[in-house]
Amino acid sequence: VRNLIDTTSLTADDITQILDVARSFDEVNSRSIKKVPALRGRTIVNLFLEPSTRTRSSFELAEKRLSADALNMGGSTSSVVKGESLADTIQTIDAMNVDMFICRAKFAGTPHLITENTDARVINAGDGKHQHPTQAMLDLYTIREHFGHLDGLKVAIVGDLLHSRVCGSLVPALKTMGAEVTLVGPPTFQVVDPAYYGVEQTSSLDEVIEEMDVVYMLRVQLERMGGAAIPSRREYNRLYGLDLARHARMKEGAIVCHPGPMNRGMEIMPEVADAPNSKILNQVNAGVCTRMAAMYLLLGGDDNDVA
Ligand code: CP
Repeated sequence: VRNLIDTTSLTADDITQILDVARSFDEVNSRSIKKVPALRGRTIVNLFLEPSTRTRSSFELAEKRLSADALNMGGSTSSVVKGESLADTIQTIDAMNVDMFICRAKFAGTPHLITENTDARVINAGDGKHQHPTQAMLDLYTIREHFGHLDGLKVAIVGDLLHSRVCGSLVPALKTMGAEVTLVGPPTFQVVDPAYYGVEQTSSLDEVIEEMDVVYMLRVQLERMGGAAIPSRREYNRLYGLDLARHARMKEGAIVCHPGPMNRGMEIMPEVADAPNSKILNQVNAGVCTRMAAMYLLLGGDDNDVA
C-alpha cells in the first residue's frame, strides 16, 4: 500500500498489520517516555483545509512520538486564499522534499488529487462525504481491543449515513474483517444503494438494537445540510437517537461508539455518551497509535521493527 486514501483497497492482511503495529505503539504510548526514533529525519505535512480537533491533534501527537518533523498548514493561512491552486500548492511544498502529506478537505477526491502532484506518501484525514480511513482503523482497533476479534460481530451504524465519510470508510473495513453490518438511518439520511456495501439498511433502531454487539452512532452533520429542513434535536432523539431507554435494551457486553464531535441530546444522550460501555474516549485514545502505525508502515517501516 503506497497511500491511504480509502479503505476499499485494503485487504484483511493490510488491516490486521495496521492494527497489530498500532498495538505495539499503544504499549509505547503507555510508557512515561512515549517517543521512539522510528521516523527521525522524515518530514510530514499536515494540510488541514477543514476544521478538526481529534484527527489533527492525534496526527500531530503521533508525528511527535515517532520523532518526525511536522509542517502544519491550514487553508486560511496558506496562499490558497490568494487563489493559488491546490496542485500548485502541493508541487510547491513537494519541492521542499517532504515525505508525506496528511490531508483533511471539504471536497471528496482532494487527497487523490494530491497523489497526482507529489511522490510523497498521502493519508486521507477525511475528504468531504467520501472517506476517513484512519478513523476506520481506530474504530476497528477499539472494537478489537474490547472483543478480542472482529469477525462475526454485529455492528449497527446509525444516523446520518448520507453525509458520513465515517460510514463510507468503516463499512468496507468492517466487512473485510468479517463483521456483519446493519445501516440504520432516517429515510432522508439513508445511503442510496446499501447493496453497494453488501449490507442491510433499516430506519428502525428499535428493531435491531437488541441483537447488536456494537452500536455506532453518527453525528448529524448540520453543516452539510445546505439549509434543508431537519427535525429538532428532541424530535430526532426521540425517533432515531440513542436514548436511555434504547441503551437499556442493548445486550450484555455490547458497546457504544461515536466518532465525535457529538451532538449531545440529538443522536446520543449525554448519559449514554458517558456510560461505562461507551468507548468514545477509547476511540480518541486509539487515534494516536493507529495513526502512528499508518504513517510508520507507509514510510517503509517494518512491523518487526517497532520499538
Ligand atoms: N472524528 C473526527 O474526525 O473528528 P475531528 O473532525 O475533530 O477530527
